Amino acid sequence: MCSVHLKKNRIGQCASSRVSILLGLLVLIPSLFGCVREVEQISETPEQTEEPRTAQEIVTDVLKAYPQSFKNTALDAIEEFSPLAIQLAQQGPPSLRFIDKSNPLPLDYTPKHLVKLKDVPSLHISRDTLEGTPEAVDALTSMSNAMDKEGITLLVSSAYRTIAYQNWLYERSLSLYGFTETAMSVAPPGSSEHHLGTVFDFGDITPAFADTPASAWLVENAHNYGFLITYPEASSWLTGYMYEPWHYRFVGIEAAQFAHTYFDGVAWYTLKFLTELSEHSIIHSATP
Ligand code: DAL
Ligand code: ZN
Repeated sequence: MCSVHLKKNRIGQCASSRVSILLGLLVLIPSLFGCVREVEQISETPEQTEEPRTAQEIVTDVLKAYPQSFKNTALDAIEEFSPLAIQLAQQGPPSLRFIDKSNPLPLDYTPKHLVKLKDVPSLHISRDTLEGTPEAVDALTSMSNAMDKEGITLLVSSAYRTIAYQNWLYERSLSLYGFTETAMSVAPPGSSEHHLGTVFDFGDITPAFADTPASAWLVENAHNYGFLITYPEASSWLTGYMYEPWHYRFVGIEAAQFAHTYFDGVAWYTLKFLTELSEHSIIHSATP
C-alpha cells in the first residue's frame, strides 16, 4: 500500500512538474521568438540604410567588383573619374547600354530614328540598305572622311540589324557551322549590339581585316571619334566572342575617351560599369 501510495505521489509530483515545465515553456517560447524577431529587426536596420550617402561613394562601391588595375587608375584620380562616370551614367541606355549573351535587349527594341548610309555620299558602303542612328552615322562620316584624307578607305559592310535579320543570320550559321562556332561568332537574336543602330562592321568581316591599314588606323584613332572595338583580341573569355577586329560601336567621344583613360579601352568593362552605375537612382539626381 505504502509503496503504491509513494509511487502515486511521485507520479503526481512528476506530472505536476511536467505541467509546470510546459506552462513555463508556453510563456518562454513566444518571448524567445519575440527576442529573435527583435534581433532580426535590429540586424535588418543597417541593411535598409546601407546605400552610401553620396554619388561618389556609390561610384567607389560599384568599382569594387572590377579588376585591380582599373580600380587603381580610377581611385588614384577619383576627383576626375567620379564626375565623369556620373555624367556618362546619367546618359545611360541605350547609347551606353551593356549588352552581352546574358544581358539582351527587349525583343521589341528598335532605335527611335535610323538614317540610310547611302544618303551620305562620302561614305564607302557595301550595300544600299545599310542604316544607323543619326549620331552614329555622323560620327562614322567624320571618321571615314579623316581616313580618306590619309588615303585609307573605310568600307562599311554591316550596320543596323533587326532582330528578325539577326535570327536569320544565327540560324544560317547554326546550319552551316554548328553550335560551338556560331556561339563564338554570332549573337543570338536580341543580344546583338547591331540592334542599337550604333554599330558598324568594316572591310571584309574576316580576321584578315586586322592586317589592313584601315584596322591599324582604327586601333589608334577610333576612340577619338567616339568608337570602341567590342570584341578585342584574346578577350573571348570575357566577351564570349572571338576576336572581331571589324566590329566597332559608337558610344560618344566622352565615353570612348573615358574607356581609354580608365578601362584600357575595354568596352565590356566600361559599359558594364556605366550601366551598373546608372541603375542607382541617386546617380540621376547627382550633380556630376
Ligand atoms: N558578331 C557579333 C557578335 C554579332 O552577331 O552581333
Ligand atoms: Zn558586328
